[in-house]
Amino acid sequence: MIKPHGSVELNALFVADDARRGALAVEAEALPSLLLNSAAAANAVMLGAGYFNPLTGYMNLADTLSVAEKLHTVDGLFWPVPILNLTHETGIEPGARIALRDPNVAGNPVLAIMNVEATESVSDEQIDYIAEKVFRTQNAEHPGVITFKGLGRTLLSGSIEVLNFSYFQTDFPDTFRTAVQIREEILGHGWGKVVAFQTRNPMHRAHEELCRMAMNDLNADGILVHMLLGKLKPGDIPADVRDASIRKMVDVYFPPNTVMITGYGFDMLYAGPREAVLHAVFRQNCGCTHLIVGRDHAGVGDYYGGFDAQTIFDEEVPQGALELEIYRADHTAYSKKLNKVVMMRDAPDHEKDDFVLLSGTRVREMLGEGVAPPPEFSRPEVAQILMDYYQSEAS
Ligand code: ADX
Repeated sequence: MIKPHGSVELNALFVADDARRGALAVEAEALPSLLLNSAAAANAVMLGAGYFNPLTGYMNLADTLSVAEKLHTVDGLFWPVPILNLTHETGIEPGARIALRDPNVAGNPVLAIMNVEATESVSDEQIDYIAEKVFRTQNAEHPGVITFKGLGRTLLSGSIEVLNFSYFQTDFPDTFRTAVQIREEILGHGWGKVVAFQTRNPMHRAHEELCRMAMNDLNADGILVHMLLGKLKPGDIPADVRDASIRKMVDVYFPPNTVMITGYGFDMLYAGPREAVLHAVFRQNCGCTHLIVGRDHAGVGDYYGGFDAQTIFDEEVPQGALELEIYRADHTAYSKKLNKVVMMRDAPDHEKDDFVLLSGTRVREMLGEGVAPPPEFSRPEVAQILMDYYQSEAS
């Protein structure tokens, strides 16, 4: 099986031993507490689940700046996005052992215990620099930049031990999986070549066919549909609705035992190319050999070129930094001439009108009005689930 990123064995920071985890939970109640922001909590969940292997905790300022500028830590570990615990709290001293509390669960239970190795102030200039490198913009309207700039100016770094998986395991018991579990399931299936499909949206025909094309072109054994279960910007479809529509689509249109439907507990960054590389890192940690990267992967608005998330793999990811490979998808849509979903690069004689193309805004309008998008765009079973959701929202 493909090895994890940066190590031989996958090192998840969740404390799997029940007795030790219980003892830590008791200890945590007596420790000084820090209420995390959602971004730092999501990082803890990802570290706990093994997705951010081989990191052992939150990055310090030197690693943060190095990762932002050069995509590697000071010690040379390839890594595309700083993994941070930024806070507005200023009273925590280096050497402290603290309980990290969960902002996303009622009562703020302890999510992890942290050994604070350094407490560093980050200047506004450094925050702008990191934003520019990671998001390729400092535009105050970019949803990822807005979140990042509001996280605070004190950086707490150090190792963590994770005690639970926040709301992800309780709210999405059938879908949330750790990287450790996904590796085990892939082994259980006996799959060698596995293609990951990242998504934060329901899967329409184009997405479905992208998975099928990748599977056929790569002669893969299976597809890992791996959806984001954390926070999104307003207007994005909530995870439970997306999950239901994807399950229905896979159930009806894919052969049994070829698709694993799973999710991970992370908030969307909308960082386009850099987030695509992070996606690749953590899909390798899951045991996937390939990741589909299509049009405007992890993008938002028009901050990124349609295929910047592919070219970054040529321009900024050094040879050999990752074992996983990306499957590059061109803009995909239903061709009225060929009566099937195709990648546009495979239909050079087509004009725009030869494709069934609908903007996200138009699709939302139709669903909200109870009008199903055409079956060339969306499977009727998927459209029904989405119409029910939009109409329940409206009432
Ligand atoms: S993402 O933010 O999670 O990347 P989304 O769920 O919309 O967004 O996309 C999932 C994957 O499908 C990404 O790799 C994206 O590039 C790809 N994709 C979505 N729609 C298309 C399309 N019409 N043509 C090609 N690729 C697409």
